Amino acid sequence: MNKDLISQFNQALELEHAAKIQYLSHAEVIRGLNAEPVMSRLKEISGDEEKHAEKFRSIISMLGGVPSTGVAKTYSVKSVKEILEVNLKAEKEAIDFYKKILGSLKNCKGLEYEDFYILHELEHVIIDEMEHVQELKLLMGKV
Ligand SMILES: [Fe+2]
Ligand SMILES: [Fe+2]
Repeated sequence: MNKDLISQFNQALELEHAAKIQYLSHAEVIRGLNAEPVMSRLKEISGDEEKHAEKFRSIISMLGGVPSTGVAKTYSVKSVKEILEVNLKAEKEAIDFYKKILGSLKNCKGLEYEDFYILHELEHVIIDEMEHVQELKLLMGKV
């Protein structure tokens, strides 16, 4: 069992729990002319975060750990501008952290038959988060 790796994936799982809840809550704050498409986009992203949480739970279990039920810090917001800024920052922080886990994975001992699977799954999650960054930037009019 690699305790450091399990602990990092549990932190990642808590980030995903927080992201899922935050996107769902923020989707209900939106009002105005473009409310519908922005709401549905945020709910769609929230669904991706739940899928990431599922992946992390199964990786943690594969590593011999117990998936956390904890939730990382979430933020309340009042405007669409704030929603986009807060979540863009969170997505970037998640990407940086997941890249750090990728580095830990490469140094991890005792993962002879699981390593490529975990690596592959984590890279997929990172690519999804990068898509979320692009989607949020698009909504901000930045791309
Ligand atoms: Fe995610
Ligand atoms: Fe995301």
